[in-house]
Amino acid sequence: MDNRPIGVFDSGVGGLTAVRAMLRDYPNESIVYFGDTARVPYGNREKDDITNLSLQDVRFLRSKGVKAVLIACNTITCNAGEELSADNPDVPVVGTVDAAAAAAAAATKNGRIGIIATAATVRSGAYDVALKAINPDFQVFSQGCPKLVPLIESNHILPGDALIEEAAAEYLAPLKAEGVDVVILGCTHYPLISQVVANYMGEGVALIDSGAESAKAIIKTLTETGGLAETDAKAEVNYYCSARLNDFETIAQVFLNKDIHGSAFEINIEEY
Ligand code: DGL
Repeated sequence: MDNRPIGVFDSGVGGLTAVRAMLRDYPNESIVYFGDTARVPYGNREKDDITNLSLQDVRFLRSKGVKAVLIACNTITCNAGEELSADNPDVPVVGTVDAAAAAAAAATKNGRIGIIATAATVRSGAYDVALKAINPDFQVFSQGCPKLVPLIESNHILPGDALIEEAAAEYLAPLKAEGVDVVILGCTHYPLISQVVANYMGEGVALIDSGAESAKAIIKTLTETGGLAETDAKAEVNYYCSARLNDFETIAQVFLNKDIHGSAFEINIEEY
């Protein structure tokens, strides 16, 4: 058993989708969360840039004594996952893609799977590889959505918000036309707008929350390695971001349904 915290990180608020699942399902696990709100979005960047930024993000988490690292970001998982594992051989490093692909494979009935993600995730082809490895007959339709993360980071997340509804419709229309019965929310920011996506896609289309699936994946890894916290452990959850602490706290309040004042801090990530 290991009561040290799990380090969870993302380019911004998206990884809170993994934190929400952990708070709900594994409440005795302590968490150190980092959202790189000073440098978001990562999804329009090149692989080298994403790698360098995320190596620095993990150095910050490691400075907090974490027992494992959850890459609660698809863009980072696809573009820097191997580099992060290689740089941190002494702790488990778990990403989003394999877990979300497995959940999508289990959910589809017609084998037509849609993915909405950042440009860098789509460019990597990681979801196509993971899904085809499960079943080569799957038909996979990927859609890059560059407008979504900036809108979500500025709190355009609820149904009825014209900006987010128009942008989502633009990206989802081609997937709807292809008759997909599953959409992977292949960016951890997107579960924040899952109601907007569900309203557009309609009944009969399952949505896969890559943040929540990644949370299950790290718990599975810790279960296998004997690294879970004791069942009576008193969990401590702290949140760090690198800019705009007030906005971060506001979105966290809406999404986690929890006031995180007092456990949320702003840091200078360039120091790590
Ligand atoms: N939340 C991130 C993901 O899962 C990406 C956001 C960004 O573009 O920085 O891909």
